[in-house]
Amino acid sequence: MSQIIPKIIGTGSYLPEKRLSNYDLAKMVNTTDEWIYTRTGIKERHIAAKDELTSDLATIAAQKAIEAAGIEASSLDMILVASCTNDLIFPATATIVQNKLGISNSKIPAYDISAACSGFIFAISSAEAYIRGGMAKRILVIGAETMSRIVDWNDRSTCILFGDGAGAVILEASGKDGTEAGLISTHIHSDGSHCSLLQTTGGVSQGPPHLKSGSGLGFVYMQGNEVYKQAVKALGHIVEETLEANNLQREQIDWLVPHQANIRIIKSTAKRLDMGMDRVILTVEQHGNTSAASVPIALDVAVRDGRIKPGQLILLEAFGAGFTWGSALIRW
Ligand code: UT7
Repeated sequence: MSQIIPKIIGTGSYLPEKRLSNYDLAKMVNTTDEWIYTRTGIKERHIAAKDELTSDLATIAAQKAIEAAGIEASSLDMILVASCTNDLIFPATATIVQNKLGISNSKIPAYDISAACSGFIFAISSAEAYIRGGMAKRILVIGAETMSRIVDWNDRSTCILFGDGAGAVILEASGKDGTEAGLISTHIHSDGSHCSLLQTTGGVSQGPPHLKSGSGLGFVYMQGNEVYKQAVKALGHIVEETLEANNLQREQIDWLVPHQANIRIIKSTAKRLDMGMDRVILTVEQHGNTSAASVPIALDVAVRDGRIKPGQLILLEAFGAGFTWGSALIRW
């Protein structure tokens, strides 16, 4: 009997038109292009227009993924949106995306997943479970963020890091074609004891913060160097866990597609895998940390420019607030 394998059949991504360079930021806060680039690898980030919402970014990325997969939106049977900058507290951004895709009539389940920067990996893991369990055949998984709305534009230690964007994939039940292509395994973890190191300063239940320049629901607060250490540690462990679970050697991984937060963190993970940076997909320079959107954006870029090829082994990984972290191993 053939096994069900969730397979990515299309990818898409979108970055808002407006770009904010390190030089632009140096006019806003006490920083320099040199500091930002050497500490993070970021040169610029994209900022959503005033009337552009997370659901708009998500919908464009989704449309591109649907087009790449060569399917009709009406054939989807679930939508998952990973985001920590949803349009509204409710309804879920995924339902808004469903409507913007013109498929509300389908009545398919659409809901959001909240795991900050690891959100896309967590959403892929959920989609994997639905597909392997036979509850869904074709799932649209999106990571989308308007981080610019919750950044304190007076705080140089955080405002230089984040950007807006969206990435999407279509995951489909496969395995009947006799090829091995598809999702091999996902691995996800959380450790809530570190909540206070990376969080928003306000929220719904906790109440509004002392407003600075972030949104009414608070702005990003991060103890950067502590988060950095924990990220390097957790990501090191997750790559080992993924290799061990699948009885693989480091050199068998063709491409690392990491969360694009900081090039120094990415280099540490690549080192743990004994991978040269020529086998790492890097987009952090062009868009900074787009939280849940960063992994699917990087994946889409490398699929479209032809670096990721059929048969290759791809390792996705991410780390974010919570802390949350995870990986997904894919035979392309
Ligand atoms: O996506 C979720 C996970 N998030 C992350 O992975 C982010 C993890 N953290 C990081 O990437 C890094 O910690 C940062 C890039 C945020 C900061 O780099 P760092 O090397 O850890 O710097 P630091 O926070 O230890 O600060 C070093 C110095 C400080 O000055 P003093 O105290 O040494 O005088 C900061 O005040 O750099 C100063 N600084 C800046 N200087 C110029 C902080 N931000 C800036 C800035 N421009 N933008």
